[in-house]
Amino acid sequence: MEENFKLDIKARPRRLRKSGAILDLCQETHVLPSDLILPVFIKEGKNGADKIPSMPGQFRHTVESLLKLCEAALRKGVRAIAPFPLVDPQKKSLRADEAVSEKSLANRAIAAVKKRFPEMAVVADIALDPYTTHGHDGILDKSGTWIINDETVEILTAMALMAARAGADFVAPSDMMDGRIGAIRDALDDCDFTETAIMAYSAKYASAYYGPFRDAIGSAPKSPGKSGQRKYLDKKGYQLNPYNSREAVREALLDEEEGADVIMVKPAGSYLDIISKVKDSTVLPIAAYQVSGEYSMIMAAALKGWIDLERVRNESLACIKRAGADMILTYFAMDVK
Ligand code: PBG
Repeated sequence: MEENFKLDIKARPRRLRKSGAILDLCQETHVLPSDLILPVFIKEGKNGADKIPSMPGQFRHTVESLLKLCEAALRKGVRAIAPFPLVDPQKKSLRADEAVSEKSLANRAIAAVKKRFPEMAVVADIALDPYTTHGHDGILDKSGTWIINDETVEILTAMALMAARAGADFVAPSDMMDGRIGAIRDALDDCDFTETAIMAYSAKYASAYYGPFRDAIGSAPKSPGKSGQRKYLDKKGYQLNPYNSREAVREALLDEEEGADVIMVKPAGSYLDIISKVKDSTVLPIAAYQVSGEYSMIMAAALKGWIDLERVRNESLACIKRAGADMILTYFAMDVK
């Protein structure tokens, strides 16, 4: 090798990687606590929060401990939550009657949070899975395998009205029935909830990454199968096929036309191409949901000492934002500085 060997090039992109200060000046994407929505699990009762074994660091909260969590979240700059209820098995039914109760756990939690912290944005999940005995997001037909679309939408619409009445800022239908956004928008407007926004789970995939969530809200089978591996419900009759991307765009466009205010893609980390594609096809803000399985995989590897938790966490969120998400639902929301 010649001494003082010099390439005859003008472009040296590494100039912009010379120091931390320069790197920061050039950084395109930032993740702020105010970009994040914290999904929270809630349960009945008074005795504090309990741990969710498959989601280390996450708890099922009582309404009381939820209020404490909200206070801590606001202090950290996290100003939005999305509560998900663990419903008592006696309250579950084939027609999900509890879902439309004004006094459901979810609606009591929403009302309590909005009363105490009006500045906290509350995203109400609109789907029947916590309330059905079988764990599906809708009403089953006689065959027991197919969800009846329009009857399910009727119940979802009533559920959305109750959540709006409880004070939710967003109703967020996560059920993937056809026509639900239009039906909910009409009902909200008819009942003078013109200011309640709709965050549509437009591109929600039939993903295997939801396993820990189904444990957390009790919509999973009670015991593991023979292999010791849990078997989760098949929702391919309504959620999107993970092998496809164009139907995500179709769903997003339909939801925009029907009156959605925000379009969601879910899961997030393995669906960055979908986030980017949907972002390019609508002018609405995009939300992405970093789901339970994504969280638990990172936590599990970190607990084994195989990855650096803080760095992988931050990178996972930055990449979701870089792909085009304006806001992210993430169980890591409280840990981002
Ligand atoms: C169902 C719902 C699911 C999640 C949120 N709402 C899962 C499912 O389809 O069973 C998953 C969230 C997560 O995994 O973190 N309405």
